[in-house]
Amino acid sequence: MVELVEVKEGLARILVPKTEWRKGPGTSKTPVFYNPTMEFNRDVSVAVLRAAKRKNIRVLDGLAASGIRGIRFALEVGEIDLTMNDWNQNAQNLMKKNCEINGLNAEITGKNLNVLLNERSFDYIDIDPFGSPAQFLDSATRALRNNGILAITATDTAVLCGVYPKVCRRRYMAEPEHNWCMHETGLRILIAHAVRMAARNDVGLKPILSYSADHYFRVYLTAKKGAGNANRALENIINVDFSEREWKIGGKTGPLWGAAIHDIDFLRKIEVEDHFGTKKRLYSMLSLWESEAEMPMFYHELPYISSMLGKSTPPINDIIEKLREIGYRADRTHFSPTAVKTDAEFRDLKEIIIKN
Ligand SMILES: C[S@@+](CC[C@H](N)C(=O)[O-])C[C@H]1O[C@@H](n2cnc3c(N)ncnc32)[C@H](O)[C@@H]1O
Repeated sequence: MVELVEVKEGLARILVPKTEWRKGPGTSKTPVFYNPTMEFNRDVSVAVLRAAKRKNIRVLDGLAASGIRGIRFALEVGEIDLTMNDWNQNAQNLMKKNCEINGLNAEITGKNLNVLLNERSFDYIDIDPFGSPAQFLDSATRALRNNGILAITATDTAVLCGVYPKVCRRRYMAEPEHNWCMHETGLRILIAHAVRMAARNDVGLKPILSYSADHYFRVYLTAKKGAGNANRALENIINVDFSEREWKIGGKTGPLWGAAIHDIDFLRKIEVEDHFGTKKRLYSMLSLWESEAEMPMFYHELPYISSMLGKSTPPINDIIEKLREIGYRADRTHFSPTAVKTDAEFRDLKEIIIKN
């Protein structure tokens, strides 16, 4: 018998197996998975679903484990038709118990997620796996209803960031890059893969919120059915070429998503709820996501460029201000606290760092 402990998250109160919790991806060794580090991930998903909500939508928590995410959707979004799925029998039993504790009557299924996705359709599909979501993308993009949302987590960031290029080629059919910009490159490879898998099913996907945090990437994409929408989505798939500190379109890295990773209008609809355990973090992330939403792809790491120039790293706000003074757009990015997104010529950025 495994000892259960009660945890509170958002408006939910749930039982989970007692384990030694540590920062990072969590362990798949417990009878039912629960990772407190992912509270921010779940707070964001509640906020996104609230912002996107229409009446009585069909919501699937596809890899539900303890049910914490789906239960939070039911309690904090409301008026949804919720299905929670996990092929682990212990998880199904615990989800039932957790639904009772929270006074909910959700549907609980125990199928291989790919089988369920081949049988049913949903308006919101959440895929939060151990590692890569790649194996579920084909069936998920077929199961999405028109105007639906696909939410995916990838914890295989080392693969997407080019530490294991052979795995990235197999799993995402893409050439990764292991450099100063690998988090944005990896996230864009993940988006491109989802878009390409959807296109095979005549579905056009577009990211509305995409981010890198802790040990994972997370992307929310909206679906529009039809071959024309799929074709238009594919027009945003590109390859790039990285040199030592710069990049240009065309080259070996990719395929990756070459357009906006957030939808600014959607971001403005997101509300931070008072009961979110990570509300401070969400406020500051939202502000960074908004500032980078309409900026060009990729970023410049000031410490790298400064060391290349034999200078100490200047304060980031000074650099942003100076770039703006000479007419460029410049802002911070959520990918790194020491990086700048800008449309400036690289030689002008270098000049500013040299003179600072
Ligand atoms: C990382 S955990 C999910 C965590 C959960 N979403 C949360 O927020 O706490 C992944 C879960 O997926 C389940 N799983 C893995 N592969 C599956 C599959 N092909 N079909 C159904 N369930 C699967 C595992 O049993 C595990 O409980």
